[in-house]
Amino acid sequence: MKASTFILLLFKGALVIGQAPIVRENKLAFAVLDPLGPFRNGSQLFEPTPNVNLTPPYFQVYDERFDEILGPNPSVRVIVQNDSFAFAHDGPVWVNETNEIFVTGGRTLGRPVSVINLNDLQTSPTGLINFTILPLGPDVQINNGGTLFRGDLLLVTTGSGPLPPSLIRVNPKPPFNDTIILNNFYGRQFNSLNDAKVHPQSRAIFFTDETYAPPVSLSVALKLTLACTPFSYGFENGFRPAPLIPNQVYRFDADSGEVRVVADGFSQPNGIAFSPDGNTAYIADSGETQGVNGGIQPTLPATIYAFDVVPDTQAFANRRVFAFIDSDVPDGLTLDTNGNLYVGCGDGTEVFDSKGTLLGKIFLGVSSSNMIFAGPNRLVIMADTKVFLAEIAAEGVDLNL
Ligand SMILES: *[C@@H]1O[C@H](CO)[C@@H](O)[C@H](O)[C@H]1NC(C)=O
Ligand SMILES: *[C@@H]1O[C@H](CO)[C@@H](O)[C@H](O)[C@H]1NC(C)=O
Ligand SMILES: *[C@@H]1O[C@H](CO)[C@@H](O)[C@H](O)[C@H]1NC(C)=O
Ligand SMILES: *[C@@H]1O[C@H](CO)[C@@H](O)[C@H](O)[C@H]1NC(C)=O
Ligand SMILES: *[C@@H]1O[C@H](CO)[C@@H](O)[C@H](O)[C@H]1NC(C)=O
Repeated sequence: MKASTFILLLFKGALVIGQAPIVRENKLAFAVLDPLGPFRNGSQLFEPTPNVNLTPPYFQVYDERFDEILGPNPSVRVIVQNDSFAFAHDGPVWVNETNEIFVTGGRTLGRPVSVINLNDLQTSPTGLINFTILPLGPDVQINNGGTLFRGDLLLVTTGSGPLPPSLIRVNPKPPFNDTIILNNFYGRQFNSLNDAKVHPQSRAIFFTDETYAPPVSLSVALKLTLACTPFSYGFENGFRPAPLIPNQVYRFDADSGEVRVVADGFSQPNGIAFSPDGNTAYIADSGETQGVNGGIQPTLPATIYAFDVVPDTQAFANRRVFAFIDSDVPDGLTLDTNGNLYVGCGDGTEVFDSKGTLLGKIFLGVSSSNMIFAGPNRLVIMADTKVFLAEIAAEGVDLNL
């Protein structure tokens, strides 16, 4: 190590623990940048400590409370990889009984749903495990989101051409039979459903609807635009008819069949999550990325909004900006048991406290749409052609509702 590098490491407080380096970022160190630049644009990633000779993935600590989330010996590594196939874009669901994670692919090969068994990690000599594509039936017309509902997978499909978006229950065990539980709002099709969560107290299903699902990443999307059709979905991507309904957030009571709007006024409502007590809802608006055809619109939201969940109606009230994301757009959302919010972003997983302070990042150097806790201490992160496992101290909220 050169002396100058050593001094830089000391100065920036970089420190290596186990497999995963931790970089402590001083916010005052980048509060004022050289007026002559270069400044970055929204599609470039922000690495405050770019001179440290680190290869992602690593942890960036912006607030010392991130240390409690990471614990004494955090690590992050790739556990599944397929360079030619974006098999792990979104919709991660963990099934405790089998220790399996279900993932949904990116815009290649019709976005299949695949399964990974985390028990395979114990016997894999390389630390890498395989995924298997599920033999799902034709009801699943382009899946995007997913969660658990009464022991089944709840898939959230975007629709394909004239075929409607839908909420679908899928048996997580062979033969993976399914039942569509909702595919319209009083006769009108939704636009392109994106993601869903079950409310921890009422057990109603809340879901988002938008007119695209976001590209794998800008660069991949541009390559795919040139390379193949159909590469995408949603009206903005030329894959769905013109919308007949605003982009909004819905509540569905699966027992009574009642479906109602709980929030509107979004550009592209995407990821959704609830605080552990069910009193706060979070919605990621990824409007800045208007799909492949709409391109990047930097003045539209890359913003997570927080809402109070009104006790009697469960409408979302008191909308406020929770956080604006510094790299690309926010996508999937999940929480730990202490109410910290984990966000799939253009640079990996960004973690905020319940007041919206950025605590730290699991900096992957590539885009991540979503992530899921798989029991205590394991966060499994989707990055299209790779799945990362972060072993940290935090534990996720119970989604088995
Ligand atoms: C951002 O900067 C990169 C690198 O200079 C460039 O390739 C890209 O086109 C820029 N994107 C936008 C939206 O300006
Ligand atoms: C990647 O996935 C594709 C599609 O399932 C498969 O054909 C190919 O063998 C996989 N490659 C590797 C290296 O696993
Ligand atoms: C993954 O699949 C490859 C090819 O079939 C096989 O050689 C390898 O043993 C599998 N890995 C695991 C961990 O099961
Ligand atoms: C799958 O099939 C079984 C047996 O018919 C049925 O009990 C179950 O409800 C089905 N599950 C779904 C999600 O359709
Ligand atoms: C997973 O299942 C085991 C065995 O039933 C149980 O002890 C454990 O609490 C469950 N974990 C979670 C996070 O639900």
